[in-house]
Amino acid sequence: MEGYYWDNKVEYLKRTRDLYYNDDYLEFLVRYVWKIHNPVHIVDFGCGYGYLGLKLLPLLPKGSKYTGIDKGQKLINEAREIFHDLPYETEFLVADLNECKIESKYDVAVCHAFLLHMPKPKKILQKMLDSLVNKGRIICFEPHWISSMASNHLHGYEQSHIVPLGPLQKLFEEDKNQSGKDGNIGAKIPLYLSELGVKNIECRISDKVNVLHPNMDLKNKQNLYGSLKEDGIGNKPTDRESFINGLIKRGLSMSEAQKQFEAELLFSKAFSTDSSLIVAPGMKITFGFKVKNN
Ligand SMILES: C[S@@+](CC[C@H](N)C(=O)[O-])C[C@H]1O[C@@H](n2cnc3c(N)ncnc32)[C@H](O)[C@@H]1O
Repeated sequence: MEGYYWDNKVEYLKRTRDLYYNDDYLEFLVRYVWKIHNPVHIVDFGCGYGYLGLKLLPLLPKGSKYTGIDKGQKLINEAREIFHDLPYETEFLVADLNECKIESKYDVAVCHAFLLHMPKPKKILQKMLDSLVNKGRIICFEPHWISSMASNHLHGYEQSHIVPLGPLQKLFEEDKNQSGKDGNIGAKIPLYLSELGVKNIECRISDKVNVLHPNMDLKNKQNLYGSLKEDGIGNKPTDRESFINGLIKRGLSMSEAQKQFEAELLFSKAFSTDSSLIVAPGMKITFGFKVKNN
């Protein structure tokens, strides 16, 4: 498929977002942790089709506004269509967040599964802070892949046979060293924000633990299985040689790459709609305040 990568991923995004948070947990965060009781103008960096807007706007005080910014024209078109008939004040902008300037006028700057795709995430965090008014709040929902991988449990299999954490840990670290893009960034944002002068930093973890089991209702089972597959769980690895060569290029040794191939192959063969599987994405949710010194 041609064009901008994420513009071809709308269905992937729509099918996987529900794996991360229960709605009651998001409500808990808005009402009891962030205590947002007055209308806010919120800006979403790398908004995609507006997932966070759809989740947060119904929980925010009436009169709140949402601005979504993304590089994908198709994603932004999709967002505009989704929000067209909803009773919220929204605007969607197509822009490259590595390049564009953003006005300092927002009360809350958020991002979801975005910073991990940025080669220079600290620069983007600074841009998020620059987009805020004084005492504005930054909130980053970002993954911590190795903790997510550590949570997978497929009933009937030793975890080390289907998810060998050692090679994966090395792979994620090497990927970050090679490209700057960091799938474990969720665990680092508290420190990055501290270095950038953010105050009252706290970090939470996503609450949802997905439980697939043979006795669940058929429709829910098929939906969950489909979402997990879409999220890359239990997918069949491509052709052995190119898969292994790809991992070696990314920094694994031959034996680690072979082990990873065998594990992913076994997982793909073992995983079916009738499996018992536990998956907890373990997203880290880091937040704090911008406070000017003068
Ligand atoms: C994994 S998706 C997450 C989308 C959305 N936040 C969500 O969770 O559904 C990453 C998003 O970052 C956007 N993105 C990546 N690089 C970008 C850039 N340089 N400027 C603006 N958006 C970017 C992509 O277009 C994509 O929509």
